[in-house]
Amino acid sequence: MTGGTEWERYATEGVLLDGFHALKHALRFGARVPVAIARDKAAALALAADLAPDLTGTLEELLNEVPGERLRALVPRPHPTGVAALALRDPARGGVPRASTGRDAPVVVLDNPRNLGNVGAVIRLAAGAGAGGVLTTGDADPWHPSAVRASAGLHFATAVEHREVAALPEGPLYAFDPEGADLRKVPLPRGAMLAFGSERHGLSDEVRARADHLVALPMEPQVSSYNLATSVAMALYHWMARDT
Ligand SMILES: C[S@@+](CC[C@H](N)C(=O)[O-])C[C@H]1O[C@@H](n2cnc3c(N)ncnc32)[C@H](O)[C@@H]1O
Repeated sequence: MTGGTEWERYATEGVLLDGFHALKHALRFGARVPVAIARDKAAALALAADLAPDLTGTLEELLNEVPGERLRALVPRPHPTGVAALALRDPARGGVPRASTGRDAPVVVLDNPRNLGNVGAVIRLAAGAGAGGVLTTGDADPWHPSAVRASAGLHFATAVEHREVAALPEGPLYAFDPEGADLRKVPLPRGAMLAFGSERHGLSDEVRARADHLVALPMEPQVSSYNLATSVAMALYHWMARDT
């Protein structure tokens, strides 16, 4: 951390990893982590021995113990594991789509999400399900530390980008809305984008206009809607459970 160039890189590509799990996933999925601190290094290493034995050597070298006040000064609401780190996003690593399951996996579009906890939960789902990535529209930063905390660092396991609606990739767009056609009767084609509306207002007019299909998750009468992240989970499970 010496030259101005390195500092500039931290300012543009630096991502705060808040908590042991975020650090664990960032390391597992190849993030460069120049700084990592722990309130209690021995406790963090014991956690690693239990939950991430693949990383104990790396963490032994990487973690620096700091007093609790120092951690609180750097991270406003430290994670219960007392671990924090700085990772660097790698712009060369490629954007959407990127998936272990290949380029035909669906890409999730979150249309103007308001809650960063939901954004992180969806990124975690996309990583687990092998989706092609997560695109967000609107003014929320999908790489905000609160979203990275909620994804447990799984931003580094999938592709995560902000896009304008006009810049969404080509390909059939399936917009999710309770008024749509029953998803169980709609096969999702290769390369589909699955779009979900915001927590308060649902799908924007722009995304509705761009959509090729409006699809619904089955729901009992009188129930208005599911939670955003829960809706994405059901849609991705529907895709994962397909006959191929
Ligand atoms: C909490 S809901 C939005 C509720 C909002 N008040 C509205 O008017 O749509 C967030 C998003 O989850 C998805 N969603 C929730 N329940 C759904 C359902 N039964 N079928 C399809 N999509 C659903 C939609 O994309 C919706 O925009």
